[in-house]
Amino acid sequence: MSATIEITRIEKSKIASVDFNNLPFGSVFSDHMLTCTYKNGKWESPVIVPYAPIALDPSAKIFHYGQSIFEGMKAYKDAKGNTLLFRPLENCKRLNKSAERLVIPQIPEDVFMQGLKELLKVDDAWIPTNEGSSLYIRPFMFASGNGFHASPADEYKLMICTAPSGAYFAGKVNVLIEEKYARAANGGVGFAKAGGNYAAQFYPTQLAIEKGYNQVIWTDDNTHEYIEEAGAMNIFVRINDTLLTSPTNDRILDGITRKSILQLAEDLDIAVEVRKISVAEVVIAAQSGTLKEMFGTGTAAVISPITGFGFQEKDYELPTLEMPFASILKKAITDIQTNKSEDLHGWRV
Ligand code: COI
Repeated sequence: MSATIEITRIEKSKIASVDFNNLPFGSVFSDHMLTCTYKNGKWESPVIVPYAPIALDPSAKIFHYGQSIFEGMKAYKDAKGNTLLFRPLENCKRLNKSAERLVIPQIPEDVFMQGLKELLKVDDAWIPTNEGSSLYIRPFMFASGNGFHASPADEYKLMICTAPSGAYFAGKVNVLIEEKYARAANGGVGFAKAGGNYAAQFYPTQLAIEKGYNQVIWTDDNTHEYIEEAGAMNIFVRINDTLLTSPTNDRILDGITRKSILQLAEDLDIAVEVRKISVAEVVIAAQSGTLKEMFGTGTAAVISPITGFGFQEKDYELPTLEMPFASILKKAITDIQTNKSEDLHGWRV
């Protein structure tokens, strides 16, 4: 299906006011945004309009029942000036998986892809070209239909906004292994990119920050004995020369960076085990010196090395390695994303 996308261009671009050499993460927004409305049981044609506040009814269900999901993607420029996306259909598929769990209507893949590509064409000048920066893309869907009845809305919006962005984390990432709070539970929505999953992280993370950490390592809600995620990222742990990550389940996001890193590790002959990782084995490995690395993976952060962790009032430092897996894998994935290496798996679009 090919929809007609009506485009209303901004009168005066804001781009001259942006310092592309000093980009924060996700807080400078490109000139345009895409909106697609679901009404009367069907999606209308998407429109691209200047980035601006939107009007919603105060009784829109998003505000009351949190019917809201999102994705994180990035666009890059290669040396020839081509615009590149990384596995974008995976994001669309996961958006629809999240949508199903939150009873939000499915967005057809062609509408999503066509709208996204058109938006990137309109805001082409906003895609950073400098190393380490990219255009962070935030597709999101929410209940714009109103009513206080606690049931799914009858109207929804898909919107896509973009933000030229630099690194997600600056400096050391020191994490606290969580023993009380949980980000997700069996049968819940942890696997979905539901806005509420992230809101629920803020309080335990705030407590960790007050104790001097930057992030929380989430453990399973039932026993708190197993490591599951790191902040808003999937987690990898390297013990000796084996890379470990938890299997995805109801509680763990099926990260696109996570699964790409698993594939790249295999390509690079790095031993990988996808299995439950106990807090006890990580602490023992830290004490015995076999814990070499821990890092988070996600679209925004790509690969974010963890420099130390706290558990039961004790702090553990991670060693500084000459050639950490985190750096090798980060180079491997960003080289594919930016067209500096061969795309063996057909991930670039
Ligand atoms: C991403 O990594 O893109 C995410 O969606 C996480 C978000 C909290 C920045």
